[in-house]
Amino acid sequence: MKKIAVFTSGGDAPGMNACIRAVVRTGIYHQIEVMGILNGYEGMIDNAFVSMNEKSVSNIIQRGGTILKTARSQRFLQPEGRKKAIENLKAHQIEGIVAIGGDGTFRGALALSEQCHIPVIGCPGTIDNDLVGTDFTIGYDTAINTVIEAVDKIRDTAESHNRLFVVEVMGRDAGLIALRSGIGAGAEAILIPELKSDMNEMLDKLEKGRKDKSSKIILVAEGDESGGAYKVMDAIKQKFGSTYDIRVSVLGHIQRGGSPSCIERVNASRMGHAAVKALLQGRSNVMVGIINGCITHTPFEKAVKHIVEIKADLKELAEILSI
Ligand code: F6P
Repeated sequence: MKKIAVFTSGGDAPGMNACIRAVVRTGIYHQIEVMGILNGYEGMIDNAFVSMNEKSVSNIIQRGGTILKTARSQRFLQPEGRKKAIENLKAHQIEGIVAIGGDGTFRGALALSEQCHIPVIGCPGTIDNDLVGTDFTIGYDTAINTVIEAVDKIRDTAESHNRLFVVEVMGRDAGLIALRSGIGAGAEAILIPELKSDMNEMLDKLEKGRKDKSSKIILVAEGDESGGAYKVMDAIKQKFGSTYDIRVSVLGHIQRGGSPSCIERVNASRMGHAAVKALLQGRSNVMVGIINGCITHTPFEKAVKHIVEIKADLKELAEILSI
């Protein structure tokens, strides 16, 4: 293998730069030329290919976002868009691709493989941690640390004013950000899409729970079936009238930015390095991941399934510790 390309796609996530850096430097170590593709699949269609060397990835391991930029491409969903992208890949003599992103990125890679035979290896890059085949996706650890830092601050206000806060965090299809940061921030209740009856349980808990707590924090994932933080506030008001002084805080995109944590940088570097090695081993259409500390390879079809298991012990822990 003489020449490979790397790109980021979908929502940006802290640690993507550390992964790009590892891909480029591992490639160079193995005497492979590495090109970056700007703006994800959009850049593949628009011929936005740039040469990369050891220097082009200097001083980026600590930076959030992605130096290669990212996009959610509609054009790549169409066969004509993919045809143009393949022409460009061939013109640049690309023999292997590393795609850093989430489920949309890997679905795109599968569609690409139906029209051409350039091997693609995925690195899981999304703050949502909603991919099968890795314990942690790139961006998740930093995002949950951002959330607990924000919720700790909200807790100060909640305590001072004797308020109940409903805090909404990201996770369109998954509640893992809410669950883990909820435990980390000592939330009184956590609402996630994977657990259907948690809204009623939460209202029940408020009714029967301790009345001497001066603050309460309810963490809700944006994809929860309650419909989000404002709907949760309405439901509490409907049941309890003016018992609680309620405020809503939607954390939004601050969860996607910021300097990656140390774990993130190390995991992202390991995955970028493993992706290049997987190409050299002749693998294709698999996502590298880390399970129990070891590098794994999961077929894209399985990785995108969204059936990330919610560990029963985490749910139980959240319940027991929030009394
Ligand atoms: O990166 C994943 C995610 O954060 C989801 O949790 C969220 O719904 C979505 O991205 C929002 O992304 P954007 O604003 O880029 O469309």
